[in-house]
Amino acid sequence: MIVKLWAGVFALSSFAAVAFAHPQTPQIQPAPAGQGNPDPLATYKCDPNTCKLPSCHCASKKAPVSNPPMFLIVTHDDAIQEATWGPATSFIGNRKNPNGCSVGTTFFVSTLYSDPSLLTRWYAMGQEVADHTVTHATPFTGTYPEIEGSRYWINSLGGIPRGQIKGFRHPFLNYSVDSLNLLAKAGFEYESSMSSQTHDMVWPYTLDYGAVNDCMNTLNVCGKELNAKGLWEIPMAAIYDPTRGVQLMDPFNEPTPQNPTPMDQIGANYRTAFDLRYNGDRAPFGVYVHPVWLGKAQPPTIPDGAAKAKMINDFIDYALAKKDVWMITNAQLIEYMKDPVPADQLASKPYMSCKKDPAPPTNICNGLSTGGNSTTETCGFAEGTFSTCYGCPASYPTLNAPSSNSTSSRCRLPDNCDTLYWDP
Ligand SMILES: *[C@@H]1O[C@H](CO)[C@@H](O)[C@H](O)[C@H]1NC(C)=O
Ligand SMILES: *[C@@H]1O[C@H](CO)[C@@H](O)[C@H](O)[C@H]1NC(C)=O
Ligand SMILES: *[C@@H]1O[C@H](CO)[C@@H](O)[C@H](O)[C@H]1NC(C)=O
Ligand SMILES: [Zn+2]
Repeated sequence: MIVKLWAGVFALSSFAAVAFAHPQTPQIQPAPAGQGNPDPLATYKCDPNTCKLPSCHCASKKAPVSNPPMFLIVTHDDAIQEATWGPATSFIGNRKNPNGCSVGTTFFVSTLYSDPSLLTRWYAMGQEVADHTVTHATPFTGTYPEIEGSRYWINSLGGIPRGQIKGFRHPFLNYSVDSLNLLAKAGFEYESSMSSQTHDMVWPYTLDYGAVNDCMNTLNVCGKELNAKGLWEIPMAAIYDPTRGVQLMDPFNEPTPQNPTPMDQIGANYRTAFDLRYNGDRAPFGVYVHPVWLGKAQPPTIPDGAAKAKMINDFIDYALAKKDVWMITNAQLIEYMKDPVPADQLASKPYMSCKKDPAPPTNICNGLSTGGNSTTETCGFAEGTFSTCYGCPASYPTLNAPSSNSTSSRCRLPDNCDTLYWDP
């Protein structure tokens, strides 16, 4: 089967209504024509008697317990800003999980063009913020400054505890043995860049014994030496289009953002792929988007995304209407994997609880009110303008200085601090 997976790449200006959308870029090369999809688990060597939870878990298609919940994962990639905030939050809406708490989603955020005050709000809403590098450079080769710089910026300008920034997604989904090892060494809990089709429909697993996903393409790290001990892989679930084949991200933009496959067909593809997992071994399913494509038109390159967003919203409603379906963050999924329970026991797990305790004081930014000390500062630079609660830096973020020191009397959240709320 030919694997063809695409991701859009964007650098949206946050200070003008102008969008710069780069052409869509192939992120994973097709497998050589005519090759089949052998079972990657046939050659995978991981002994469940040695590789044990909570720090190690072998890849398996089989659910970790009987009667597991079905997880729906919704992720956003690239800049968080005015233009992406609306579509991203529309997938949360008033939706609730079976325990009555708000659903969870994950934002893999890149530093450039992002507004850190939106990160603060996203996190205070109980949503997850994860790392997607500082510059989203192409080609992406997985360097330490890109990975660590973004985590540093999220912590210092978004006020999010460093320890809560647990995940990473590679720009262009372009991972390597080196970058995976680097993430493990840097203390990340999970990465989510590999694709999962039907032949490799596994639950999340740790990379102690290598990978079992994407074994057919040129990024293949299967069977190679990996030292990514304890680093979880959350495979991204593909969908299948009768005409276009395997699709992973933004399938509503194929063959082109302006003239895509009819949304009815894509919605049906999502439902079919979801049902296959729901009625099978329940490996988590996901919807992976660049939310810039789901908002208002931004000529000349970005057409109106309302119909695309509606298709996704309709699919989420379809999935959540089924019994035992939970829409959760990647970080919650990892907590689940460390101590898996049947569906009827999930509601009582602390990581599924509704509210952060204690409730945040409203006179600080992550208490989500506005006015007085909870008003964000506006930081204006020639390169762009953004807001933060935690003191404007002296210069616009760059790879080597993702957030220079605060220029105001406000203080940053110390990077060794794991408080829920921070009064700057
Ligand atoms: C992917 O990473 C490799 C190095 O690991 C690099 O040579 C290649 O150019 C990258 N491709 C893209 C599309 O970023
Ligand atoms: C704002 O911060 C200042 C300095 O910490 C403090 O004295 C003042 O009471 C705060 N105002 C509000 C409304 O919390
Ligand atoms: C930035 O702040 C840190 C911590 O207060 C300090 O150690 C460092 O010298 C400051 N850097 C600059 C360039 O002022
Ligand atoms: Zn990206």
